[in-house]
Amino acid sequence: MLTIALSKGRILDKTLPLLKKAGISVAKSELDSRKLILDTDSIDIKVIVLRASDVPVFVQHGAADFGIAGKDALLEHGADGVFELLDLEISKCRLMVASKKGVDLNKSTLKVATKYVNSAKEYFYQQGRQIEVIKLYGAVELAPIVGLSDCIVDLVDTGNTLEANNLAPVELIHEISSRLIVNSAAFNTKYIEISSWIKRIEKSL
Ligand code: PRP
Repeated sequence: MLTIALSKGRILDKTLPLLKKAGISVAKSELDSRKLILDTDSIDIKVIVLRASDVPVFVQHGAADFGIAGKDALLEHGADGVFELLDLEISKCRLMVASKKGVDLNKSTLKVATKYVNSAKEYFYQQGRQIEVIKLYGAVELAPIVGLSDCIVDLVDTGNTLEANNLAPVELIHEISSRLIVNSAAFNTKYIEISSWIKRIEKSL
């Protein structure tokens, strides 16, 4: 039996067709149910659908054998105990610094609002820039508008959310896409089963 951890939200809409092509289908009745462990049409595969940031945690601790997570979640988690095996090249976007248009970000201590605390710290500290991080869980774009922060670190896809709030992307931190990750211990003990599914997923890209 193998358990796959998937990220809920936008990324799930792109992941399910990919898995289906690889031979792993989850029925709509399963997805619509309140069940937390979902059956698939493969008797030996179960699926769990998690918050994106929890996928690396479940895979790291072996609660899932492999998973599909955004590179943003992996950077933030640190990806200890996890091998990143495939870039699925779906759900592409960018992790960026954004601010109000024309704002000077060369301050001695920059206030940065973000969900991505670790990634923001690493990015600014590597450049020797001091920051004060304000951890938010949503509506991050609001922070510079109401004076809570000088800038944000967040995902940018179309740029529409920034534009609608009179913000502009100013610095690229990392290109983001979904990655297939595997628990490093499970990859050794269940190598044959896991690698055969990974090959099928790779072929369906
Ligand atoms: C993400 C991100 C931005 C938005 C960017 O939020 O946090 O707010 O998408 O997309 P855009 O450049 O196409 O406008 P999401 O809608 O995923 O919701 P969340 O804030 O709950 O993560």
